[in-house]
Amino acid sequence: MTTMVSGAAMVAGVVGAPVRHSLSPLIHNTWIAAAGLDAVYTPFEPPADGFETFVAGLRRSGVRGLNVTLPFKEIALRLADTADTAARAAGAANLLLFGPDGEIEARNTDGIGLLAAFARQAPGWRPDAGPVVVLGAGGAGKGAVVALTMAGAEVRLVNRTHARALTVADGFEGVTACPIEDLAKALGGASAIVNATSAGFGGGDSLDLPFDAVPPEAVVMDMIYKPLRTPLLQQAQARGFRTVDGLAMLVGQAIPSFEALFGVAPPMSVDVRALALKTLGETERR
Ligand code: ATR
Repeated sequence: MTTMVSGAAMVAGVVGAPVRHSLSPLIHNTWIAAAGLDAVYTPFEPPADGFETFVAGLRRSGVRGLNVTLPFKEIALRLADTADTAARAAGAANLLLFGPDGEIEARNTDGIGLLAAFARQAPGWRPDAGPVVVLGAGGAGKGAVVALTMAGAEVRLVNRTHARALTVADGFEGVTACPIEDLAKALGGASAIVNATSAGFGGGDSLDLPFDAVPPEAVVMDMIYKPLRTPLLQQAQARGFRTVDGLAMLVGQAIPSFEALFGVAPPMSVDVRALALKTLGETERR
């Protein structure tokens, strides 16, 4: 394994505010080192109102591109010249690629990450196995709706503020907004539940799901990875459901991002999940 950063190094990074919690620099720089690339992946934290200026400065700088995290995913899409279907449908981009003439291409690899997480941790589960209940209609929830409907799933969208779920559901075929009072009904016959709310983030208040209504073969996924075993996932595991965690999604979106930024697939010889777990102070649950 060689690490070399020369004057000709490929430069990319992640931009967010705050960005210090991001695991992306660890993941991408680990892959860079394992692949022996002359490259570097840097965290950037412009002021919350300074994203446009930041991007304008970088687009012709030779930087290859950026992963984008909160709160810049929507504005990232607006600044792009072109965008892939996933980014357009989500109204948000988690990846900007800078072309040789300063043109900006927006992509959204979060959906790929979500489906990759299911494939890895709940093998055999299929998006068309039955309705998927998505909890949360913010940016993360909308992203999940996009990924799941594009993969052929029927989605029941439940949000604390029902009006928000109605607005999101309105824009998609195959998505029904269900009031939170009808949650037990929405969970009936579900093939999967995806938590895309921020409830439970950092170990705070978690959602209390009426699990009795959930079919035993359903898969429970939480996009939150801090803590890795959220109270929701703990409850689901205690009841015997298969679970999928947010770290699998994070690594899942990083793979196509790395490929787009550096032109090669990340080497699978190195276990970035194990490194991320160590950084999070977590251990593997399986
Ligand atoms: P993000 O872009 O990460 O999705 P967001 O747009 O702020 O963030 O959305 C947060 C989501 O978590 C929303 O769906 C929010 O519900 P509301 O639309 O009703 O605000 C949901 N959420 C946050 N805390 C919650 C809680 N304690 N219980 C239920 N839902 C919660």
